[in-house]
Amino acid sequence: MPTINENFIKIPATYLFSEIARRVSAYRSEHPDVDIIRMGIGDVTLPLPDVCVDAMIKAAEEQRSVATFRGYGPEQGYDFLRKAIVENDFQAFGIEEDEVFVSDGAKSDTGNIGDIFSRDNKVAITDPSYPVYVDTNAMGGRAGQFLNGQWSGLVYLPCNESNRFVPELPAGKVDIIYLCYPNNPTGTVLTREQLAVWVNYARDKGAVILFDAAYEAFISEKDVPHTIYEIDGAKEVAIEFRSFSKTAGFTGTRCGYTVVPKSVKALSENGERVALNKLWLRRQTTKFNGVSYAVQRAAEATYTPEGKRQVRSLIDYYMDNARIIRQALQSIGMSVYGGVNAPYIWVKTPDRMGSWDYFDYLLKEKGIVCTPGAGFGASGEGFVRFSAFGEKERIVEATRRLLR
Ligand code: MLT
Repeated sequence: MPTINENFIKIPATYLFSEIARRVSAYRSEHPDVDIIRMGIGDVTLPLPDVCVDAMIKAAEEQRSVATFRGYGPEQGYDFLRKAIVENDFQAFGIEEDEVFVSDGAKSDTGNIGDIFSRDNKVAITDPSYPVYVDTNAMGGRAGQFLNGQWSGLVYLPCNESNRFVPELPAGKVDIIYLCYPNNPTGTVLTREQLAVWVNYARDKGAVILFDAAYEAFISEKDVPHTIYEIDGAKEVAIEFRSFSKTAGFTGTRCGYTVVPKSVKALSENGERVALNKLWLRRQTTKFNGVSYAVQRAAEATYTPEGKRQVRSLIDYYMDNARIIRQALQSIGMSVYGGVNAPYIWVKTPDRMGSWDYFDYLLKEKGIVCTPGAGFGASGEGFVRFSAFGEKERIVEATRRLLR
């Protein structure tokens, strides 16, 4: 009989958002008449932009004829999409098309990137964080033992009210650093100067930064960097993850990409400095067969002038929801963070309630689903996260219930 990857036994039995869905569905089956408003998982509710749907229809029509039919595409993405990505988002920073890898989303890429790093690396992760970073490092055997809610082998970088959610540099040397800005779950951001501290650290210590910029499009303030490559020297030390999910409503359609500059390197056992671009290309061509042609055409359409306009209106809609939630909670004296440069609002629970207790209270007393902060890590205890993705009428109704 084969033996299992023991790391799967060590991790908590269910993924955070699956656990929430399980609890909500159990509650709903006992209380079928309760009108539940979902502000938990960050899933979009507005339909795809018209430009994307039109591009998908056109791409589907092409599949009818021998002359335009497409079989396997390049695993790392079609040239037309990689070109559009570089021209629109990265040209100013010297990123080239063969440094962009199109994928089915940032969740897969941030989860899979561990494949190209050895198990011995010391990994630092902000706390709280998107659970994929911690869980996949645990699955890969890089996290040690799970004791009292934390992994013995990971270096946690607490982000809390006392440091204004700006992580401090680790005391010892780490090799890999996960940063997500605008941040999920706290909705907070780093300024250019604050991000430069991390790039300089990585350059000094020979570390690699895994920078999740899935929420970049929601930035509204001027001194907030949209990409880590705005920071001098980042091209030598940082990999960046992007997504069309939240930006253009692709949570179900699935498309994202990862930028792996050829100048980002890590050591082999024999001391050679190896380009991570080469390893990621090898990984993707082996384990991934690319995103469907129609979906890549839809993603490309977001970069047309009309596409940009339609995407902007989706973002504005959700950010107006964020404003409504933020202002409502502030008006009743709650401590509220985020929601200005990100679609997430991070809120301190009242009366020092635990995150899961407050989650239960909101579900049972108000019919509102949030995400318990503790699910994102120990430093998230005492907070919950509200997602601004939702229909405006429902968001307004939720704030009414919260204010009652
Ligand atoms: C979240 O709610 O944190 C995200 O929607 C989850 C995801 O993108 O996988």
